[in-house]
Amino acid sequence: MGLTVTNREDAASRADALERLVDATGPDMARVNALILSRADSHVEMVPELAHYLIEAGGKRLRPMLTLASADLFGGGTGDQISFAAAVEFMHNATLLHDDVVDESTMRRGKPAARMVWGNAASVLVGDFLLGQAFLMMVETGNLPALNVLSRAAAVIAEGEVFQLAKSGDLTTTADDYMQVIEAKTATLFSAATTVGAMAGNAEDASVAAMTSYGRELGLAFQLVDDVLDYGGVSGTMGKNRGDDLREGKMTLPVILALESANAADRSAIASALGKADCDEDGMADVVEIFDRLGVLQQTVAKAEAHAATAVAALRVLPASPLRSLLSDTAEFCVARAY
Ligand code: IPE
Ligand code: IPE
Ligand code: MG
Ligand code: MG
Repeated sequence: MGLTVTNREDAASRADALERLVDATGPDMARVNALILSRADSHVEMVPELAHYLIEAGGKRLRPMLTLASADLFGGGTGDQISFAAAVEFMHNATLLHDDVVDESTMRRGKPAARMVWGNAASVLVGDFLLGQAFLMMVETGNLPALNVLSRAAAVIAEGEVFQLAKSGDLTTTADDYMQVIEAKTATLFSAATTVGAMAGNAEDASVAAMTSYGRELGLAFQLVDDVLDYGGVSGTMGKNRGDDLREGKMTLPVILALESANAADRSAIASALGKADCDEDGMADVVEIFDRLGVLQQTVAKAEAHAATAVAALRVLPASPLRSLLSDTAEFCVARAY
């Protein structure tokens, strides 16, 4: 199905790239959403109750929209992209259910996290159910190369979350360690989403490779900005609590850069706030004040900007089209949401 794309060349158009992506993928996303709801069903009542609670809270649906747009960029292809988009969103939702247990987060998509309503055990198990359903949808397409990409992604995401856990509160964590973590836990799913979309669109190998690197670079930018927003964002707008990363002792880039350049007093203030589960708004404000003085949130955004620019550059090997421009704007939107 051909997507209708509206484009505006001005910088402001990046801010509404997400809305334009929603418009462009609308009819196909309606099919994906129907599939998502039907595959979240089970005779065990708690499964659809918990799954629907998370799914109906929305989320941006960025990954499945990227899968659909990536297929359409090459003419729409096989139709497998509907199953892949639903599978990708299921994988994402499964990781969110698991991630909120690991991170002890209390809020997700503007509501109490599922674990606050049904508990940690149910959240983990329903996450496993969604992951299983995701694989079923992939297998049904019979597309082995795409299954290869998505199953590798499932393993690498889990590996990234474990690596992050192992580094939690470790003040010797390097920027390189951090990049490995976000590449695995976040960029891998974005690149899988765009790769299998391009495969469903029957793109040739060089074009699939371009979409893989677009998704990867966009994913790195996305997570860098998510990590900035955890210090500089607004809980209501994000739909999750600001400060979770600090309380959890997560070694994100702002913390790593601050520890590298801080004086002894600032360093010890950061070290003592990090991983303090009861760190309140005042404790958080002290850390943010240090971060502002050192400019580490701006440096992190600058790094995100560089990755978004690489994502845009990856698309340049493909023929120019309104949809290609929209995908470029979407990469830039991932950074613009930091402001
Ligand atoms: C949250 O992803 C997890 C990260 C990789 C930072 P999103 O910000 O895409 O979450 P939803 O789907 O919109 O809720
Ligand atoms: C992304 O990391 C989680 C996954 C990729 C599963 P975060 O822990 O930063 O995500 P949020 O902030 O909880 O959404
Ligand atoms: Mg988390
Ligand atoms: Mg986060």
